[in-house]
Amino acid sequence: MSETPRDPRDGDGTGAPPAAGADRPADDRPVRASVVREAPPAGADADEYQWHTGLNRPTGVPDAVEFVDVHKAFGRNKILRGLNMGLPEGKISMILGPSGTGKSVCIKHMVGLLYPDEGDVLVHGASVPNMTDDELFEMRKKFGVLFQDGALFGSMNLIDNVAFPLRQHTDKSEEEILDIVRRRLGEVGLGHSEDKMPNELSGGMRKRAGFARALVLDPDIVLFDEPDSGLDPVRTALLCELIQEIHEENGGCYTVITHDIMSARRVAEYISVLWKGRIVESGPAEELFNSENAFVRQFLSGESQGPLGME
Ligand SMILES: Nc1ncnc2c1ncn2[C@@H]1O[C@H](COP(=O)(O)OP(=O)(O)OP(=O)(O)O)[C@@H](O)[C@H]1O
Ligand SMILES: [Mg+2]
Repeated sequence: MSETPRDPRDGDGTGAPPAAGADRPADDRPVRASVVREAPPAGADADEYQWHTGLNRPTGVPDAVEFVDVHKAFGRNKILRGLNMGLPEGKISMILGPSGTGKSVCIKHMVGLLYPDEGDVLVHGASVPNMTDDELFEMRKKFGVLFQDGALFGSMNLIDNVAFPLRQHTDKSEEEILDIVRRRLGEVGLGHSEDKMPNELSGGMRKRAGFARALVLDPDIVLFDEPDSGLDPVRTALLCELIQEIHEENGGCYTVITHDIMSARRVAEYISVLWKGRIVESGPAEELFNSENAFVRQFLSGESQGPLGME
């Protein structure tokens, strides 16, 4: 794949993409195949990306979501810098990586809340940046998303919060909706709090309510952005169990972003380690936990010694 576009920063001090970059979508690549990782380009970036082998150990299943050479900057702040990442169908994947490296930005690209400056994001093979508003609306029904802060509507009680996607996206009767909502709230241990407002709940309860809301549409793809942050260790363990149970029941592509290595050990079937806007290494969890890569080893064992510093 030597024809893959080079990093556009080469010779570009302005942050503006080169003229040819605007029409550089992924159509010269076999996009439905599992994304191919490759070594970073030689040159100025080689050092910065010396740990990025881009190695992707095969999972044997197709990807539900693919990032193909995605670049995204906010002003001069380049966040995604040639990201190639696949999230396999039917598995619980985890995206791990240092704070501020672009994990939440990735989630927003998957549901079309952010668009890449270059490259493509595919959901079940369809290009998200090229969707019409109607197509986006339909595509979003496939997703359940637990945003990092829970993102509950402050003026609605728990029932109305969790019922919101059902009222928005389905023609179900109010009776059916309340049935589903009460079942989901029960599953996350909030059966007795259904009339509470978000500001009456603890952080952990808000997370669990967000979790219930993410699952009401029985989504094919579920994205959890740090479901375990701010939870005590026991609740974290219970939440991990809940994610596994619900995944076992419903299947689909579950993607969890976390900083908690214990959570990753417990539930991850597939892991992508993200750093400096690209994948360092990805593959089945047990293989990543046995990786020879010094960065991956350091990150997955949480040690202070290694290539990753405070910066
Ligand atoms: N809408 C935005 N406008 C400008 N900058 C943004 C925006 N969203 C994210 N960023 C910047 O992109 C970078 C990556 O943010 P992101 O939230 O994806 O990090 P993260 O990997 O999720 O970190 P954490 O683990 O702390 O949640 C940060 O520097 C952030 O300031
Ligand atoms: Mg984040």
